[in-house]
Amino acid sequence: MSTLKTVLGSAVLVGLLSSAAFAQAINDRYGFGTKVDPAELSGFFAIPPDGRGLPPGSGTGTQGAKVFAENCAACHGDKLEGNPAKGIGGDKLIGGRGSLATKTPVKTVESYWPYATTLFDYVKRAMPFSAPGSLKNDEVYAVVAYILSEGKIIKPTDTVNAETLPKIAMPNKDGFVPDPRPELQLYH
Ligand code: HEC
Repeated sequence: MSTLKTVLGSAVLVGLLSSAAFAQAINDRYGFGTKVDPAELSGFFAIPPDGRGLPPGSGTGTQGAKVFAENCAACHGDKLEGNPAKGIGGDKLIGGRGSLATKTPVKTVESYWPYATTLFDYVKRAMPFSAPGSLKNDEVYAVVAYILSEGKIIKPTDTVNAETLPKIAMPNKDGFVPDPRPELQLYH
């Protein structure tokens, strides 16, 4: 019962106070927790389709070829064809365009992903699989440009940055149906 009261009390507090004031109130009340350092929080990010939050920096596909060869090809193949090896084998990254509605769909960045910005988000956060977060922003932009240019979505000389990336139209951008459930409307 006391747990229930605490939960209800917290819910009322959430309704009344801003999140910072709420955190402070919880700290004062229970005597634990520390303020989160903004530097710590900077490791947590999500880049939505419109590119909000993309960092400064830029790169071209031509520059990205080297980044890919050094950091990605071992798992994703020299020609982005993927590697079937168990464990570290990386996915095929290009090809399969137009195959999704067939009996043998090939899902890749080129054929499936609706937003180019997701590629920046994912690579910066999760790749290389063996050392996530190790690439500089310029390297991420360049390797993103390389994957998109190998997939013939942009030219190898096109510059990818915070302004241009959200404007790139992915081949399967119209292949998704919006999910109307309100709890999934994350970016409104
Ligand atoms: C050590 C092996 C390894 C390295 C190195 C690596 N990857 Fe990956 N990559 C993977 C694996 C494994 C997955 C699948 C992860 C999963 O499904 O959770 C993956 C998934 C991906 C995907 C998502 C593909 C899809 O269609 O879902 C992209 C894009 C990607 N990697 C890009 C890169 C880039 C760019 C680099 C270099 C900067 C890189 N990877 C380096 C192993 C690797």
